[in-house]
Amino acid sequence: MLREIDNNLWVAEQPFKYWGLEVGARMTVIRLESGLMIISPIKPDEQIIHQLNKIGKVAYIIAPNLYHHLFISEFQVIYPSAKLIIPKALNIKLPKLDFAQLLNDNNGSLEDQVDYLLIDGFKILDISGASTLNEYVFFHRDSRSLIITDTAFHFDGNFTFKTQLAARLLGIYGKLAPSFLEKLASKETQKVKQSFQKVFEWDFDRVIMAHGSIVETGAKLKLKQGYENFLSTSL
Ligand SMILES: [Fe+2]
Repeated sequence: MLREIDNNLWVAEQPFKYWGLEVGARMTVIRLESGLMIISPIKPDEQIIHQLNKIGKVAYIIAPNLYHHLFISEFQVIYPSAKLIIPKALNIKLPKLDFAQLLNDNNGSLEDQVDYLLIDGFKILDISGASTLNEYVFFHRDSRSLIITDTAFHFDGNFTFKTQLAARLLGIYGKLAPSFLEKLASKETQKVKQSFQKVFEWDFDRVIMAHGSIVETGAKLKLKQGYENFLSTSL
């Protein structure tokens, strides 16, 4: 179900397993002047649709990276007038997607309320090895919130014992950080560093991520600390 966490800002979560671990998945909803912006959609159910319809009209559906696109088509069916916005690289991966707009190559803003930026050089390990994530992160100015998807996690005591244990083994329990698996995959750390230097210029205090517990305050420092190791040296 949709949960209001600030003025014009909601999140909704659902269970999601990755490599057999319960990591959850979260989408973010921002209300802008022209309507609702949905970032990283989860599977829409009746309750979420009902709640969304109560708070506004869905104006934008955004796929933030090459992986969080699974439910955009379901949202498009329910909200056919919403604009689907995707990274250019997702259009190459899924050429049949019926999108309205591509995110700019590096950065941009939407309705002068949400800024976005590509995290360049960041890769993840998937079944085919190191794969480009092509993730855009978003800054909602009014609520001073940074919205990220897979470029950092935050697993803490709210997660299952197995997930907590895995997070400890990966060195990220309680941290707002990517794991060493992403560090192993990402050889172009200088590009990641330059991207995050720009992220840290934004005046955010909260970080919302797709997998983990939201960090409500002091999140900029926590993210800097979480990224210290990632950005210090390349392996
Ligand atoms: Fe993810």
